[in-house]
Amino acid sequence: MNDLAGKHIVLGLSGGIACYKSAELCRGLIRAGATVQVVMTEAACQFITPVTMQALSGRPVVVSQWDAREGNNMPHINFSREADAIVVAPASADFIAKLAQGRADELLSLMCLARPSGTVPLLLAPAMNREMWAHPATQRNLAQVQADGAQVLGVGVGDQACGETGDGRMLEPDELLDEIVARFQPKLLRGEHVLVTAGPTFEAIDPVRGLTNLSSGKMGFAIARAAREAGAQVTLVTGPVALPTPRGVQRVDVRSALQMQAAVQAAAPQASVFVAAAAVADWRPATSADQKIKKDGSGDVPALHFVENPDILAGVAASERARSGALYCVGFAAESHDLLAHAQAKRQRKGVPLLVGNIGPETFGRDDNTLLLVDERGSIELPRGPKLGLARQLVAEIARRLAR
Ligand code: C5P
Repeated sequence: MNDLAGKHIVLGLSGGIACYKSAELCRGLIRAGATVQVVMTEAACQFITPVTMQALSGRPVVVSQWDAREGNNMPHINFSREADAIVVAPASADFIAKLAQGRADELLSLMCLARPSGTVPLLLAPAMNREMWAHPATQRNLAQVQADGAQVLGVGVGDQACGETGDGRMLEPDELLDEIVARFQPKLLRGEHVLVTAGPTFEAIDPVRGLTNLSSGKMGFAIARAAREAGAQVTLVTGPVALPTPRGVQRVDVRSALQMQAAVQAAAPQASVFVAAAAVADWRPATSADQKIKKDGSGDVPALHFVENPDILAGVAASERARSGALYCVGFAAESHDLLAHAQAKRQRKGVPLLVGNIGPETFGRDDNTLLLVDERGSIELPRGPKLGLARQLVAEIARRLAR
């Protein structure tokens, strides 16, 4: 998606082996619609060449404050005022120490110091050896730069180029890109705690078989991501799906409807918004065999008996907190026809203020969707588009209703 259309990013590289990932980040920023001005320290040029970054960004890379190509010879002023954000990736331990002290002896730190801090956010993607990361001096410097207004994007855990394992890896380019995109989303749900269910449930017949459905979880995951981008704390309870967890979202994996209900009941007392996007199985086998049910050659088939699953959403919507307005509940309806009538009826039946209808066969597994929002005032359609875009619109609609 063109999530960064119209945005101008200064991408700063300080010295570290993670510079190779910044090439991919630069491509990602451009693909997301941003224009990118790369600035490199001398140390960064030891790891990756300005030629590479120029080719990827489509602009000459600047490495020195004495670069005479700027008419007024003030790249630190010009670049920092054109930018919608300055992203330093990698931000080395030394570079962060410099920022903490307000030093400005080369272009990138000079530019960070000269940026209009009220309007141009500074995002740092640290990258260093785990001992350097854990060192009290680094942690002190990180606390200082955050107190001074920089946003530290966190680090990954795992193998390091030095052969050690631990904290301090630079986040992957796609993780950084998600963080940068999130930075530009309006913080409509700041202070809220959003609980989302997603995906199908799996109801076991025996240890190797079960009943499930075609829900991919994409819509629920997009809602979790959009809510987090909007500044909410997010808990995502998901059935079995093969999707990566959106950054900053707390994920709880479950399998059956009963497990999903238990996880939701544990999280709901802390939540202020509940969005039930999961396709919960209506029924489960009355008993689940301990051992695989075997074909015995007689031609007889096993008789399956079902019991109804609890309605997780209706249960939460009937709780004291939901009825008092402390917990705003949003239900989903996947229908095959007569969407408006079914969605209106389901809103009443579930006892929720907002019900989101969609056509099951036109959404399951797809990256795009159409949503019909039904509340006490009527209905509005969010036209077909990518699920993340729809999720952002839904988040805005929820925020508007919370503010009423
Ligand atoms: O009744 P139906 O399954 O069509 O309702 C769909 C809505 O109810 C969705 O929001 C779904 O997540 C929720 N639901 C639930 N527990 C169930 C069945 C549905 O929370 N057992």
